[in-house]
Amino acid sequence: MSILKIYEFPDPALRKATEPVTVFNDDLRALAADMAATMFDAPGVGLAAPQIGKSIKMIVVDHSRQEEKPNAWLALVNPEIIAVEGLQCDTEGCLSVPDLTSKVDRYRKITARYQDLSGHPQEIIAEDRFAVVLQHEIDHLNGVLFLDHLSSLKRNLYLKKYKKWLRGQQS
Ligand code: NI
Repeated sequence: MSILKIYEFPDPALRKATEPVTVFNDDLRALAADMAATMFDAPGVGLAAPQIGKSIKMIVVDHSRQEEKPNAWLALVNPEIIAVEGLQCDTEGCLSVPDLTSKVDRYRKITARYQDLSGHPQEIIAEDRFAVVLQHEIDHLNGVLFLDHLSSLKRNLYLKKYKKWLRGQQS
């Protein structure tokens, strides 16, 4: 397993359209394992393929709480939210958007349909924090960052801070 490079905002890789996965082979499974290793190393609780520069519909999420096993992870291929319920507002961050956390409005409970790493259709029901993670990661597959959910005021403040930080990096 190897740790992959995480692309950071404003890299265009994060905005690119993603292709559905149609081939379920060892390469895909190795990529998912590398993504999981990268996620835990960061550390984070979810990682989407565009964040490591792959424009395909695959995410990995921390599944240790659900399986009660440290470093357990789940890969969701071609995930799609098929039902939602309720609302919640909690703090989010993103491995591709360093140094920013903000409250984001999300559904409280979701049902998602996806394929596992063998291509078998699966369904998952997620609530609370885990539902936030899934919504956040599935957004990445549509080129959407949690920044996009913020008010324009907050977003502009962040962009200003970010540009200043970039200038500091270059000088
Ligand atoms: Ni993210």
